Amino acid sequence: MAITEPAWTPSSWRELLAAQQPDWPDLAALAAARDRLHKLPPLVFAGEARALLAALGEVSAGRAFLLQAGDCVESFRDVSAPAIREKLKVLLQMSAVLTFGATLPVVKVGRIAGQFAKPRSAPTELVDGVELPSFRGHVVHSDEPTPEARRPDPERLIQGYYQAASTLNLLRAFTKGGFADLTLVHTWNREFVADSPAGQRYEALAGEIGRALRFMQAIGIDLERERTLHEVEVWTSHEGLLLDYEEALTRQDSLTDEWYDCSAHLLWIGERTRDPEGAHVEFFSGVRNPVGVKIGPSATADEVVELAERLNPARVPGRLTLIARMGAGHVRDALPPLLRAVRESEVPVVWACDPMHANLVRTPRGTKTRHFEAIMEELAGFFAAHREVGTWPGGVHIEFTGEDVTECLGGSEAVLEEQLDHRYETLCDPRLNGRQSLDLAFRVAELMRSV
Ligand code: PEP
Ligand code: CO
Repeated sequence: MAITEPAWTPSSWRELLAAQQPDWPDLAALAAARDRLHKLPPLVFAGEARALLAALGEVSAGRAFLLQAGDCVESFRDVSAPAIREKLKVLLQMSAVLTFGATLPVVKVGRIAGQFAKPRSAPTELVDGVELPSFRGHVVHSDEPTPEARRPDPERLIQGYYQAASTLNLLRAFTKGGFADLTLVHTWNREFVADSPAGQRYEALAGEIGRALRFMQAIGIDLERERTLHEVEVWTSHEGLLLDYEEALTRQDSLTDEWYDCSAHLLWIGERTRDPEGAHVEFFSGVRNPVGVKIGPSATADEVVELAERLNPARVPGRLTLIARMGAGHVRDALPPLLRAVRESEVPVVWACDPMHANLVRTPRGTKTRHFEAIMEELAGFFAAHREVGTWPGGVHIEFTGEDVTECLGGSEAVLEEQLDHRYETLCDPRLNGRQSLDLAFRVAELMRSV
């Protein structure tokens, strides 16, 4: 008798090893939080996830480009309108630069409205000489450096849900309510960005967009009626790390009977949890959202093809985004064999480049940072690898914030090592500031033109 695989259910992952889950001290409290989440309304709808799937299908076919960007980890402390608006402004600016520079549609996906949980390489970390459980995100515990504060508290899963809901609500208002209107392209430039070389270059581009719009008007196109000029789609995404949370927000679509993880439009599986036999791959194999997987330098071609087959057996364009994060020194060698192997498997994928996570360094004083030029070097290598193999470099995945932080080094108006502690505010990895993000967008637009 043939052995059949047990059927997928939203809880079938529980039979497998789930890496990187918090050590919840009170399992009854965890179960109670899960029950409450299960009864709360979905944050996103299946139809929206399908619309993003279709947009990503265009990316996988080489007709569009993906921009996925946001915080390394969102904080429960700064869920304010200005913080969300400033992030959105930079995202819109970057997207305008890429769209205009490469004359391609840009699919905009935020690491936002739910990016609360972090995988960690070590279970403990040293804070001021004291060994503590590593910080895993506000959805698990506080970042305060005491053992009590680092105790995982399932009540925070509920708090995460409500914070995601209010962020998403504001995002929907900003993107549909006039703020993202293309005729306001000038107003997205902020003072601290506008003075920089990238900001001035942006001003010039905004002027050209304005001229193009006036031209269209002059030849008789009714700009008022063109909805795409006045509204944008910004989709949400986060790492689908805490499977208790993701399961509780997974719902069956009444139209299709299919399962969707309604905590975000797109979820990705991290580099540390992408074991094809593990719980995360099992869980995400059964939901119909677009999903991503981070692919680090140790991944073999066989592993990547196995992941592609597991996560996209029906070969749906847009279903799977492979997010390569190889490191500036590895990408040119490590990526081409993976691109070839996936192409041979005939599983359609979007290939995106995360030039952040394999380019972390520490300064002599121990501050975690990234060099803008290392980030650009990985991006250039990513484009070169695709050019060599003849595949489509589908997108970029970056960590940024709208604020004038000093967390990453370099950029056209360089952040210097001695400036790092001026405004080093991230709770986890160092992010590009608004200027550096815009710099990056101009450089990526140039790379895109070279394809
Ligand atoms: C991240 O994207 O924040 C992250 C932890 O990435 P990775 O899984 O690639 O290390
Ligand atoms: Co990060």
